[in-house]
Amino acid sequence: MYELFFRVVFRRMDAEQAHHLAFRWIRAAARIPGVRGAVARVLAPRRAGLATTAFGRTMPGPFGLAAGFDKNAVAIDGMAMLGFDHVEIGTVTAQPQPGNPAPRLFRLVPDRALINRMGFNNDGSAAVAARLAARRAVFPVTVGVNIGKTKVVPEGEAVRDYVTSAERLAAHADYLVVNVSSPNTPGLRSLQATAALRPLLEGVRAAADRAVPGRRVPLLVKIAPDLADEDVDAVADLALDLGLDGIIATNTTVAREGLGLTGDPRTVAQTGGLSGAPLADRSLEVLRRLYARVGDRLTLVGVGGVQDAEDAWRRILAGATLVQGYSAFVYRGPFWMRAVHQGLAARLAASPYATLADAVGADTRKATTA
Ligand SMILES: Cc1cc2nc3c(=O)[nH]c(=O)nc-3n(C[C@H](O)[C@H](O)[C@H](O)COP(=O)(O)O)c2cc1C
Repeated sequence: MYELFFRVVFRRMDAEQAHHLAFRWIRAAARIPGVRGAVARVLAPRRAGLATTAFGRTMPGPFGLAAGFDKNAVAIDGMAMLGFDHVEIGTVTAQPQPGNPAPRLFRLVPDRALINRMGFNNDGSAAVAARLAARRAVFPVTVGVNIGKTKVVPEGEAVRDYVTSAERLAAHADYLVVNVSSPNTPGLRSLQATAALRPLLEGVRAAADRAVPGRRVPLLVKIAPDLADEDVDAVADLALDLGLDGIIATNTTVAREGLGLTGDPRTVAQTGGLSGAPLADRSLEVLRRLYARVGDRLTLVGVGGVQDAEDAWRRILAGATLVQGYSAFVYRGPFWMRAVHQGLAARLAASPYATLADAVGADTRKATTA
């Protein structure tokens, strides 16, 4: 039914306008107690077997909303109502910024993919921190806060920019993510090189500790699928060395070749990050590589091209404790999260594992000990 609605309504609209419309509906529904309760009962039924613990929090399941959908933390309860087990807000930058000029979001419908060059349009970390502080949570959902660099700030001042956001936002974050992997802020991805990444992560760690003395806010880094394998290893080693809590793999890709894209070549040629189904193989590969290197010492979050329960299950077996999605939500609609949960519960029940935690990394462990 959603597929029909998508074809008739959303597909005819500009992609970003459709996003805003859907977003308004979600927020409106979440504001009305009777409605949000009814929607949550249908879309977000709890399955005891899927309960997942990460970052010191127990969540109803492993499946969350990836960063970029709720950039300004205005719809956390709405997304929880729809069945996401955690919601990562952002990317938030120290200064408010409008992002790139529109059009900046494109659909590749036959490929079940999106290309975006949004460029971190957001209200800035002071406004988002105030919003989070004022939030009266309806659903006790885990909230990740993803931070990035303000576009006008020179690369040499990047650490200070991230530190400003970390100081403002850490108190409101169940976990904090340093995003160095979006392709739409010039120079951002060069911060993934360990020489730049080390001082950045050390600075953010210290800022979070200063801002929240009573609690060690879990800190993660989000990486690109376009890193060479040895750079993935280098980030993993650095994360271990610095005592980070986890790694999110992956962001969107700047690659176009070899992904089997069949959509309109003019859209394929748009500048920006590609997400959705064509990203799945590389994201999974990066995740496997990370797990083979760090095992259970870090919490890995698998994201990129997850389409259904089978994909989510494969990420868990590859080493992900948490799994996230974004693009498939656009194509599959509000029943998607329920279907993923149902499918995960069925797969777990049919597997040799007693809990999801037992399944984490099982495939990768087998492959590395074989
Ligand atoms: C329109 C759009 C905006 C995004 N914005 C952000 C962002 O601000 N920060 C971030 O870390 N990732 C952002 N992402 C990347 C997603 O969080 C995710 O890593 C990526 O889309 C791969 O997952 P998917 O294939 O399930 O969409 C964005 C993705 C899309 C499609």
